[in-house]
Amino acid sequence: MEVVRTVSAFTGALAAARRQGRDVGLVPTMGALHAGHRSLIDRAVAAHDHVAVSIFVNPLQFDRADDLDRYPRDLDADLAQCAEAGVATVFAPGVEEMYPRRPLTSVHVAGVSEPFEGATRPGHFDGVATVVAKLFSAAGTCAAYFGEKDFQQLVVVRRMASDLSMPVRVVACPTVRAPDGLALSSRNALLSDDERRAATVLWRSLRTGAGAVAEGEDRPDAVARVMAAVVAAEPLAELDYAAAVDAADLHVPASLSDVEPVRLLVAARLGQVRLIDNCDGRAMAGSGDGRRPAARRLVHGQGER
Ligand code: PAF
Repeated sequence: MEVVRTVSAFTGALAAARRQGRDVGLVPTMGALHAGHRSLIDRAVAAHDHVAVSIFVNPLQFDRADDLDRYPRDLDADLAQCAEAGVATVFAPGVEEMYPRRPLTSVHVAGVSEPFEGATRPGHFDGVATVVAKLFSAAGTCAAYFGEKDFQQLVVVRRMASDLSMPVRVVACPTVRAPDGLALSSRNALLSDDERRAATVLWRSLRTGAGAVAEGEDRPDAVARVMAAVVAAEPLAELDYAAAVDAADLHVPASLSDVEPVRLLVAARLGQVRLIDNCDGRAMAGSGDGRRPAARRLVHGQGER
C-alpha cells in the first residue's frame, strides 16, 4: 500500500493504475475509520483492481470550529485498517496541500443541499461538494463509494457529479448498524454511556415511521409526526427534524403514494452530539406486522445486504 500526501502523487498513482489496465475505486473519508467505512472499502476492493482511500478532515464542511477540533483523528489506525483491507493507495493530504490558499471557488448544489442538514449547518454541503469535486478531479475516472448513512450528502454528490459531467460513477452503500440499530458514525465515540443508550431513539423513530407507511399512511406530515413523537419520548434527545421525502431530490411530496422510493430522515441532538439517520420509507412494506425491520442489520463488519 502506498501512502501519498500530495495531489499530484495521488493523481499520478491512479493514472498509472489505469494505464496498467486496472479499474479504479475511490472511497473518500475523513478518517477515524469504523466498520461503516470498512464496508465501503470492502465493497470497493471486491469490485475494483485498484482501490484508493482518501483521508482528509475537510475544514470547509465544518460550520463550527469546536466541531472541527473535536473530530476524531487516528491516522495510524486508519492506515492499518486500509492495509488489512487491501487498499492500494491512501491519499492523506494536509490542509496546506488541499487548500494552499483560500479557495475562491465553491461548489453549490442548489435545492438538494438546502433543506435538512443544509438548513442546520450553513455552508456544510458547499464544503462537502467542493472537497469532493477536488478529490474527483484529482482521482480521474473511477467509481466512488459513499454510505447511505449521510443520505443527503449522497444525493448532493451524485447530482454534482452528474451536473458537472465528472467521470465518476457514484456508488451508494447501505448503512452499517450496531446490533441495537444505531447507525455507525465517528461521532458516536463522543456520546456518554447514557447518551449512547438513548441514541437508539433515531432508529426507533425510523422504524416507527416505516411502520406507519407500511400500514398505509401516505401523508408525509403524519409520518413525520409519529417519528417526532418517538424522539420526544426520549428525555436525553432533542429533535432537529423528522421527515418523509422523495429519495431522488429530497422534496416533501403532497402524498407518499406519488413517489418511489420514499426516504425517512431524522436528526436529533444527544447532549453536545448531533446525530442523523435515515431509512427506506418502505423498509417494512410486506413485513406483515408492520413492526419488523426489513432493513438488514450489520454486526461485526459484514454488509447489511
Ligand atoms: O462523508 C464524509 O466523510 C465526508 O463528508 C467526505 C465525503 C469524505 C467529504 O469530506
